[in-house]
Amino acid sequence: MQFPSLLLFAGVVAVAQSQDTGAETFGGLEPVIPTGQWIPVTDSYSNGPYDAAIYLSFDGMHQFDLTRYIATHPDGNFAKIINNAVVYSNARANAPSDSLPATAALFSGASSRNTGIYWETSYDRELYPPGSNCIGLPGTVCDYSEAINIDNAMLDGGGGFNTSLLPLKKTAWGTCEFVYPHNFIRTNTVFEVGRGNGLVTAYADKHLAYEFVNGPSGIGLTQGYFPEIASVNGTLEAQEAWDDLHWSALRNWTQGNWVNGTKNPAGQPSIYGANFQAITFAQQNYGYLDGVGTPSPELAAAFDAADSRLGTFLDDLANARVQHSTLVLIGSKQGQGPIDPKTLVVTDPQTVIDGASVPVAYFVGEDGGIMWLQDPSQAATAKANLLANSSLGIAYVLIGDEITLAGYGSPFLDSRVPDLIIGAKVGTLWNVGFEFADHGGFLPQDLDVPLIAYNPSLQKKNITEVVSNRQVASTLLFAVGLLVDQLEGYRLGEAPVLPELF
Ligand SMILES: *[C@@H]1O[C@H](CO)[C@@H](O)[C@H](O)[C@H]1NC(C)=O
Ligand SMILES: *[C@@H]1O[C@H](CO)[C@@H](O)[C@H](O)[C@H]1NC(C)=O
Ligand SMILES: *[C@@H]1O[C@H](CO)[C@@H](O)[C@H](O)[C@H]1NC(C)=O
Ligand SMILES: *[C@@H]1O[C@H](CO)[C@@H](O)[C@H](O)[C@H]1NC(C)=O
Ligand SMILES: *[C@@H]1O[C@H](CO)[C@@H](O)[C@H](O)[C@H]1NC(C)=O
Ligand SMILES: *[C@@H]1O[C@H](CO)[C@@H](O)[C@H](O)[C@H]1NC(C)=O
Repeated sequence: MQFPSLLLFAGVVAVAQSQDTGAETFGGLEPVIPTGQWIPVTDSYSNGPYDAAIYLSFDGMHQFDLTRYIATHPDGNFAKIINNAVVYSNARANAPSDSLPATAALFSGASSRNTGIYWETSYDRELYPPGSNCIGLPGTVCDYSEAINIDNAMLDGGGGFNTSLLPLKKTAWGTCEFVYPHNFIRTNTVFEVGRGNGLVTAYADKHLAYEFVNGPSGIGLTQGYFPEIASVNGTLEAQEAWDDLHWSALRNWTQGNWVNGTKNPAGQPSIYGANFQAITFAQQNYGYLDGVGTPSPELAAAFDAADSRLGTFLDDLANARVQHSTLVLIGSKQGQGPIDPKTLVVTDPQTVIDGASVPVAYFVGEDGGIMWLQDPSQAATAKANLLANSSLGIAYVLIGDEITLAGYGSPFLDSRVPDLIIGAKVGTLWNVGFEFADHGGFLPQDLDVPLIAYNPSLQKKNITEVVSNRQVASTLLFAVGLLVDQLEGYRLGEAPVLPELF
């Protein structure tokens, strides 16, 4: 730090002396040390309205869940915060709404056609299969679920990825390289922008593969925390205990510590966040009681737990004396469906693969799905076959230019874009086990998410214009005074800063 300042100082002295004619010079005769060039970046760096910005995702929660909870719990913490919040009552998740693309949209400000991420497990026509050493034909399933952990029965996922399960990429210089999750996303993230500007960033999510939010550089996060949800047993109690790990991490970060509770000399991260799973678990395993969204007792308990933990977190912010300097965005990366259990039809995804009646390279779906064919020129045949069988629960199928026109990218030009986008009828779940609801598709139940921007200084507002979860990304950057143009999703025009907040 000192070194370049002194060099500059020396340069200025020399210039000042050589030009000094003895006349009164502007600013006096003393050489002026230029300031602003080498100001050290500190933890209080901010030209923006806030020192820190946080995004919390209550995965699975819908906008109507929030409205309902506030109405039925007027003394709760959700009800309390909306008095000092901008509520976006028409916010939309990414489509497809599977967790990986939905998370990518939040932190990159880009949709699937730009992130190249369509589902947690998808397909790429140009990458090579795991273990192939890039020998043979390209085209591979790209699995970024818990399955690539060394040991997904361990809370730490076994401590890393089993690289023999990662897709492979042939480089321009002829080597064969692993495609880690952060290599898979094509656009940069808010964490990369933040850290690239010298700020501290942190994020917590459900599988190790969510390290993809590091962005293509691989180093966007100062600290990531990814306790493996698949290692946790299928009880609401265990899921809530897992959520509490994330709440604990958030508290430690908020207090200016590392996740483990030891002091981080740089203090509170400037951009950070976490997701929570108990609501999504309760929706999947217990569901709603009716079509108007009355939660089952277990789901109601999950909402209560969320409300109570939110209250504790607000206390954490106040105790750390950062509640005024921190913008808190609260929402969900995705919704889930169906709501009405009477509409539910659970069908084996193999029926969709069989229904295409042409060789399928890969199909993934829940309440909506995407399919790659071994021969993409058979897409029209596959579409006709799928639509001919009404027992498959399909509402529509997009192929070719229909996919491009709908905004999902071109299957002709991009190795990641599916050959078929398959819209499910409300109630359809393609699943091998029983569950009441799931996410991933393109239905309103998947996409209608809550979004609240909270700070004690904000005036209560209810914004009904449609906004996207992508806008969270540029809003996090703007809040802490970073240039939104540094985010590719913003430059691509996909992520304007959220309206009426700043
Ligand atoms: C990694 O995956 C490969 C292929 O499934 C398996 O043979 C190997 O035992 C795994 N390695 C570890 C450390 O689990
Ligand atoms: C599930 O995990 C919870 C919390 O870790 C534990 O208390 C409970 O005994 C476990 N239940 C079963 C059935 O394994
Ligand atoms: C806590 O985490 C920090 C950052 O990763 C590390 O430097 C430190 O050694 C850890 N402390 C303990 C007690 O493990
Ligand atoms: C947060 O720090 C406390 C110590 O202050 C520690 O007990 C706790 O385990 C830490 N949380 C996590 C998720 O590691
Ligand atoms: C439609 O799909 C169902 C489920 O796979 C299958 O049992 C049935 O035979 C199919 N009908 C026709 C006409 O192919
Ligand atoms: C915001 O306005 C919409 C439309 O009038 C309404 O449905 C919703 O309940 C309102 N939300 C809040 C939190 O006031």
